[in-house]
Amino acid sequence: MKKTVLVSGGAGYIGSHVTVELLQAGYEVVVADNMSNCDSTCFEGVRKITGRDDLKLNIVDFCDKARVEELFSEYKMDALIHFAAFKAVGESVADPLKYYGNNLESFVNVIGAAHRHGLHNILFSSSATVYGQVEDLPVTEKTPRLPATSPYGNTKQICEDILRDCTSAYKDIKGIALRYFNPIGAHPSALIGELPRGVPNNLVPFITQTAVGKRECLSIFGNDYPTPDGTCLRDYIDIVDLAKAHVAAVSRMLDGKMEADYEIFNVGTGRPVSVQELVDTFEKVNGLKLNCKIAPRRDGDVTAIWADTALAGEKLGWKATRELSDTLKSAWEWEKHIAGK
Ligand code: UD1
Repeated sequence: MKKTVLVSGGAGYIGSHVTVELLQAGYEVVVADNMSNCDSTCFEGVRKITGRDDLKLNIVDFCDKARVEELFSEYKMDALIHFAAFKAVGESVADPLKYYGNNLESFVNVIGAAHRHGLHNILFSSSATVYGQVEDLPVTEKTPRLPATSPYGNTKQICEDILRDCTSAYKDIKGIALRYFNPIGAHPSALIGELPRGVPNNLVPFITQTAVGKRECLSIFGNDYPTPDGTCLRDYIDIVDLAKAHVAAVSRMLDGKMEADYEIFNVGTGRPVSVQELVDTFEKVNGLKLNCKIAPRRDGDVTAIWADTALAGEKLGWKATRELSDTLKSAWEWEKHIAGK
């Protein structure tokens, strides 16, 4: 019997890539999304890539308890991957109640329903933002979390704690938190990818939108950081590699391989890449020249952060495999696809 995974936020950027990988690995997927931050482009892309025209998009707002209950009554599910959340750092600073309301309430509701309906395996989509500005790099899962620098980051920390506390109080619940570094790129088919609304905050969508002519000029935020070329260092993880880490983590839970009720894994490449190197690589692999300028530092940015990925390698048998050049080609192919070029 196929195991069934509920993917909340399954029509979004990460959720759609994870749905593809789960289906291709032989899992059944229940996709649920309230469509508040995406349209059906990626969901349609998932259907095309997997040939699953019958795949259903369940419209569910996870803050709506009655609707969540209905979903759990309709399907028998074995695991949950929870993505449904707001994710814009700046917006969370401007409107914290929007973030605390939505991100916490939806998670509490879905764990409660899972518990009542006998779904015991919960994977939470966390972020390297929980580490803050750490001194010792690379960061391991044992690196202490520092106070969050935004309400968005705080919701990630609190949701991790909610999951940890539930796994310790309710003995049947098992939880995994995956801490993503910087997810970028698109599926090689160019049928699914990131679709930011309005002006992108993140680097790669800003680059591709500049390249396609939607934005005039890319600002590199600061070139006076204490790094080799003066620009910030991040760990850019390919979206398909990231999606595969979810399949590995779900299998670990469903196959009874967990060594504790609650486990945390970093999901990154382990390789720091500077903003300048990323821009240079994008230009080189796609044969383009970007209009860009050096701008002042952006408030709240950390100088450098990258992952120690040994634990994910050892316990999940997972590691990033896609080259940065291929990831940046896929990001450009996707941008051209949505621009109709
Ligand atoms: C942010 C969030 C992180 C989230 C990630 C992906 C924080 C502190 N960061 O990471 O939680 O997982 O987005 O959604 O919560 N840059 C430019 N010009 C631009 C845009 C970015 O130079 O137009 C630089 C930034 O200064 C930074 C790097 O590019 O050094 C990456 O920025 P970004 O893509 O926004 O991701 P993070 O801020 O690292």
